[in-house]
Amino acid sequence: MAETLLDFSQVRAQFPILEQTENGHPLVYLDGGATSQKPLQVIEAIDTYYRKQNANVHRGVYGLSERATELYEGAREISRGFLNARSTKEIVFVRGTTEAINLVAHSWGRMNLQAGDEVIVTEMEHHSNIVPWQLLRDQLGIRLTVLRMNDLGEVCMNALKGLVSEKTKLLAVTHMSNALGTINPVKEMAEIAHSVGAKVLVDGAQATPHMQVDVQDLDCDFYALSGHKMYGPTGIGVLYAKEALLEVMPPYQGGGDMIYSVTFEKTEYNVLPYKFEAGTPNIAGAIGLGAAMQFMQSIGLDRIAAYEAELLAYATERLKEIEGVRIIGEAENKGGVISFVLEGVHPHDMATLMDQDGLAVRASHHCAMPVMQHFKVPATIRASLGVYNNREDIDRLVASILDAKEMLL
Ligand code: ALA
Repeated sequence: MAETLLDFSQVRAQFPILEQTENGHPLVYLDGGATSQKPLQVIEAIDTYYRKQNANVHRGVYGLSERATELYEGAREISRGFLNARSTKEIVFVRGTTEAINLVAHSWGRMNLQAGDEVIVTEMEHHSNIVPWQLLRDQLGIRLTVLRMNDLGEVCMNALKGLVSEKTKLLAVTHMSNALGTINPVKEMAEIAHSVGAKVLVDGAQATPHMQVDVQDLDCDFYALSGHKMYGPTGIGVLYAKEALLEVMPPYQGGGDMIYSVTFEKTEYNVLPYKFEAGTPNIAGAIGLGAAMQFMQSIGLDRIAAYEAELLAYATERLKEIEGVRIIGEAENKGGVISFVLEGVHPHDMATLMDQDGLAVRASHHCAMPVMQHFKVPATIRASLGVYNNREDIDRLVASILDAKEMLL
């Protein structure tokens, strides 16, 4: 049983929201891909901060402000360790993955890209890793090239080798697809991109909740994550970037805290990473994110990955038993996401009925419309797994699909 890989009841007990009922049924939450639920450790860290530690950071000389600064900078050190970055100078707190990618596009992109240069994205990217590059394409005249995937939802390394050239300046790729679950071989992809001198940006929003990430081992140039998908609060995330790149990149936003000195003639910018953190940051969010990372580390990242792999295998097997179910995304290397459609039923109708059974699943294009276009479906139903899910949840999912099927077909 998967549950023996971790102390499931102890882990589950950390999530008070899961004790409630929804439409008269115990809540089964299978939408961590949209946002995960939060453990007590995170809720309490934020509660304690506002009750006892709240003050602005990097500003006050009084004790409360110094302690808030220590907690905020402590969260940066936790994030550094979590990603195995070389230095906290490489950890920029942002609102989330979307802001991290926009920061890179606007700061690095505008400084380094010119007409004719190429950015490569994969066909399975989230809109957050497409639209910022399209904006640059329209403004700077760069080329946006798509690395296609096969019908399993996998990209091919030889195809990437065939695409890259000295015109390629950036490969922007998701570590794990939110719509398919595919885990991309980003280390290998980075090697290919680097061989032509391109930089590599990895969208880690979906990967970081599920697996150990080591940015030095991946050798990516940029890595973006969102706190709220990995048991932390909303409105906080991290942009990791190699120090040498951040050092020469211009600020993304101007304001307080990102400056060293200001006159009307000239502004000198603050040192890294503060140059990229204009304005009062999300202090409570960063502290909550640090608590979330420690929560994951206390279970063990490898144990989380192994537990979810077993649960995904069980879910896949059970769903395949249902006639008419088509799983969208069957990559060999997949994380805890299972997307599917039921022949003859619109995913939205199905998810609405499933809600009546107490199940929270997402029915949508998942902000990855090109993925839907590839598979010729308007949307999919997506169950995304977390450490608080178990086989019982999957059994409830299957029972609910069967109920909905009976009602709708
Ligand atoms: N990007 C989030 C998801 O996949 C919202 O659901």
